[in-house]
Parts: sequence; structure tokens; C-alpha cells
Amino acid sequence: MDNIRNFSIIAHIDHGKSTLSDRFIELTNTVEKRKMQDQILDSMELERERGITIKMTPVRLEYSLPKIDPLTKQSKKVDYIFNLIDTPGHIDFSYEVSRSMRAVEGAVLLVDATQGVQAQTMTVLDMAREAKLTIIPVLNKIDSPLANIREVEDEVIKLLKCNREDIHRVSGKTGEGVLDLLQVIAEKVPAPKESVGIIMNANQGASYRGMIFDFEYSNHQGVIVYTRILDGVIKKNDEVKFVASNHDFVVKEVGIFTPSKLETDKISAGEIGYIVTGIKEPGVARVGDTVTKKTNPMPAYPGYTQPTPLVFASVYPEFQEYFDDLRRALDKLRLSDSSLTYEEEQSGALGRGFRCGFLGMLHMEIIVERLKREFDLTLVVTSPSITYEVKTKDGKTEMIYTPIHFPDHGEVLSVREPWILTTIITPHDYLSNIMNLNHEYEATVFEMEDWGDSRIRIVLEMPLRELMRNYFDTIKSASSGYASVSYEPAEMRDAQVTRMDLFVAEERVAAFSRVVPEHRVDRDADEAVEKLFKILPKEWFRVKIQAYVKGRILASRSISALSKDVTGHLYGGDITRKMKLREKQKEGKKRMQAEGKVYIGHETFLKMMK
Ligand code: GTP
Repeated sequence: MDNIRNFSIIAHIDHGKSTLSDRFIELTNTVEKRKMQDQILDSMELERERGITIKMTPVRLEYSLPKIDPLTKQSKKVDYIFNLIDTPGHIDFSYEVSRSMRAVEGAVLLVDATQGVQAQTMTVLDMAREAKLTIIPVLNKIDSPLANIREVEDEVIKLLKCNREDIHRVSGKTGEGVLDLLQVIAEKVPAPKESVGIIMNANQGASYRGMIFDFEYSNHQGVIVYTRILDGVIKKNDEVKFVASNHDFVVKEVGIFTPSKLETDKISAGEIGYIVTGIKEPGVARVGDTVTKKTNPMPAYPGYTQPTPLVFASVYPEFQEYFDDLRRALDKLRLSDSSLTYEEEQSGALGRGFRCGFLGMLHMEIIVERLKREFDLTLVVTSPSITYEVKTKDGKTEMIYTPIHFPDHGEVLSVREPWILTTIITPHDYLSNIMNLNHEYEATVFEMEDWGDSRIRIVLEMPLRELMRNYFDTIKSASSGYASVSYEPAEMRDAQVTRMDLFVAEERVAAFSRVVPEHRVDRDADEAVEKLFKILPKEWFRVKIQAYVKGRILASRSISALSKDVTGHLYGGDITRKMKLREKQKEGKKRMQAEGKVYIGHETFLKMMK
């Protein structure tokens, strides 16, 4: 165990984590050169398409480096094992970052030398400190002509209270400094220690345990758990149990990440590897659970706290007969994303579906996109909402997750909603642009601090509801891309909000209802009607779109009738299934047209959701 080093790479979005991981993999010859590709750890189609990391990914590097023998003081080459975990940078996926931290002893805190310390740098640093990791500050992108090495080092010194010599300079692009960094990791990150030592039992032999920090699902092998072995050794055919879910199984296979899975004879204390469980039912494997010997179990290692979802949206199959398919798809997705939560929900207008909780808007968008792509589902997705605590005049207090369930105005006594603390780091030049947005987003300044290098750190108090109105992107454009934003939940506060419904051809469309602030009802009504007007396909008859608030029509537009047939096209995936869905959509459309009603297709719901 002395020669194992486990570390996560953590950083603000786009500071170069995946690229640095590529260089580590390449320079240690972990992957053959001809098989190497950029951002090799981002294996999910959506990750490659969008150039972002969504899931943490472990990889094991084996490399010889010099080590000073403490007795002889002589340097000799030692074979090290490094387990590296690449993590996502976007705040919506910070649960991945926090889980990775429980599997390692060190964190490489990467700061882009062209951008400096950003809001999310501080968030991940706080997480690493809380996890008591050894933090190695690293300046990346030193090859870039835009790099401000001295200034950014000053920021890091201020942040970490470290010396200039403690900061390492690398370029993930050219590979400069990367092997030196590996040497620093070998010297500074402590080797893993067995947590309590192996418990021996005269009859049962040595015990062992591992902590589950992630998992995935394979149709063929069932659940594959990612584990950090804490004590002892786990091998194929071992009879084991999950402590929290109290479920026994026989280990089908163990192995390591190279980064693809490679079967090995065993995985031992201090190592990161995987266990094929063969378990096919959902809900048995949980992150944070402990896997241990069935006949001589060790105590559970402290688990993870489930993150609190911030954004809710209900997802319904477009056709009710696909409800079970949707349930299976969500069960499976949860096996690669343990932060996803969902609960069955029944709505008069929409039928049976699921109310899903997400960690943010991007998380929601990614899950909906995955349901569509990986499971060929066509969906009705309701407008995303936060939770509102509503007191009604009949004395009840309810948490409202779905706008359609928000009581009519006349029944509401009072409402409370979640607030957040938003941190922005921006160059001085853009401060006034950002401050000018405060009124629009109901934000007030809580704290302001000079950040050196002509930058400033601002902390704002604002309703979570306002953050969801594209606040991140608005700040990005107000600062020409230079400001960065992160946020944390704060307390619940009183809210002046009400429900707005959208009617299409005189019928309320439940999925389009939303909760809006009183002072903005007119504008929101206009915008919603205008948006739907633009995306709703034409019909053979004239279609009226109206926004209702408190029983009054606040905005209205009519779509003129169609003059010729417009049909879409089929794309990728399971063609027969798609044809069937297509047929159903056509049938539904015909039937509704005959009744003078409007058929609203799945693409329209997805566009309205954004
Ligand atoms: P997320 O996981 O989405 O947060 O991104 P990341 O931190 O993994 O960043 P990624 O490696 O995807 O790099 C972001 C961008 O920076 C890409 O366009 C890279 O090509 C570029 N980049 C990364 N490292 C370097 C570097 O050392 N020098 C230069 N010049 N560009 C770099």
C-alpha cells in the first residue's frame, strides 16, 4: 500500500481537467498511443458532443519514479500505482466531485493560468478541505500566450495561504511539467492506510470491506459497483453483502480501470477498482454503501448524504402504454446517476408519470436528453419548477413541486420559496454591468471583497427561482465571459407568486403551467405565449394560445391555419420502435384534429422546457 497514491483532479469548468488526465494517461503509457484520443475519459456521447464532463471517471496509472529511502537516504526507482479520478466542473455535477473525494487522499486543484481563480475553484476547494484531502495547487495552460502566471499564482497564494514554490506549473496541452507533477503527488499525497485493520475470525478467515462511490449498469453483467477498498482483499467468487441494503451476492468479477475495465485476480486495500455484482434489480446498490464479507462482516463506513434536488420537473410518457418503459428507463439511469430522484405522480390531464428532482437546469436537460436518446422515449416534460411552501386558507401547509398543483389564487394565504447565496468573481470592468442586473433578478448584495488582480468577489442574495431564468448565461454575456458564478442554498423566504396557465385551442395544457412572480405576470405571460406561438406547429384550423393568471387572460395570439402537410423525419435509434411511435403520433393527431383539438408533440414540450 506504501506505493499507492489516490487523487482527484478538481477545478472550475474548462480549466483543463480532462486534458491533464489525457497527458497523465499518455505519458505513463497507460493507453497505447494509437488508441489515445482527446478527452479519453469523457466516454459518454453527450460528454463528447458538448465538451463537458458529466460523470467522474477513475483510471489507474502505473509508473516508476525515484523515491528516497528514509533509512539509507539513497534514491531508488519505485513502481507506483496512481488512481486518478477526473471530475466534472459544472456546479450541477458537484455531487460527483464530493463522492470522488471520499475515495482518495489527495486533490490536484487545477487553476487555469489564463482565467485565474474562479467561483467554482473555491467551491471545490472547500469540498476538498472538508474531506481533509492533501491539496496540490497546480497552474494549468502555462503554454498559452494569454497565461498570467505571476498574477494567478498570487491569487492561489492568497486563497491557500501557501508559498509560491508550492504551486506547480503544467500544460495539459503540451505535457510540460506533467511528469514532475506526478513526482510531487508521489511525495506529497499520503499513501492510503487500512482504516481499522482486518478483522480476523478463527473460522471465517480474514474479512474485508470496500466503500461504494459510484456504479453503472450493464445489461449483461447487471450492476457494476466502483469501490475503494478500505481493508483486506476482495476476489472473484467471494460471498459478500452490502451492509446498508442488507443484500448478499457472489462476486462475479473484480478489476481495475485502465480506463476501460480490466479483470484482475483481486483488489486490495488502498486500491480503486470495480466489482461485477450480477444484480439486476434497481435500488439494491447504493453509493455510500459498504461491501463486506457475508460471514464475517465489518461495520459500515460512513455513507454519503443524498444531495437535495433544487429543480423539479414532471416527466410523462407521451402515450400512457409506455409508462412502464419510462419507469425502467429511470431505474436504469439512476444506476449511472445516483443524484437523480423520482417519484410516481398522477395528473388528471397527463396520466401517470414521474416527478423528477434534479440538481440544476443542466442536470435536468442532460437527463431528459438521455431518456430520449438512450431509451427512445417520447416525453411530455412539464415546465421546470422549484419547491414552494404554500399555506392555504383552509389552514393546510403543502410543499408544491409541480406548478399544476399550485393552488388557485383565491385559496392561497401565503407562500415561501428557497433563496440562495450566489458568488460571482468578475474583473472590475464588468462590475457595473453585473450590478445593473440585480434589480431584474431580485438580487441584493450580501458581501463584496477585492480579489486582487483587478477582480472583485461579490456575494448576492436572491431567490432560487431567479437563478433558473438563465442567470448564469446572462452574467456570462454581461461580463464578456469573464465572470464566473457559483451558488449555495440558503433559507426559505416569503414569496409573492402565483400560477399561470397556458391554454391552447381553449384547453389548458397542464405541462405548461408555471409559477410566476406577481410583479412580472404580464411580461411572463407575453413571453410564454410568444414562445409557444413560435414553436407550436400549424394545424388545419386557426389555433388560439392564451395565458391565464387569476382567471384573467393576460396574453393571447393566434396561429393561422396550415396550407400544406408538413412531416418531420426519422432519426437514429431503434427504427421499428420509432415507426410505431410515429404511427401513434399520427393517429393521435388525426383523432384530435377531427375533434378540433390541438395535438402537442414531444418536441414542443422539450423546447418549452428549456
Ligand atoms: P469540464 O470537465 O467540462 O469542466 O472541462 P475540463 O476542466 O475537463 O477542461 P478540458 O480538459 O475539457 O479543457 C477545456 C479547454 O481548455 C479545451 O478547449 C482544451 O483544449 C483547453 N486546454 C486544456 N488544457 C490546456 C492547456 O494546457 N493549454 C491550453 N492552451 N489549452 C488547454
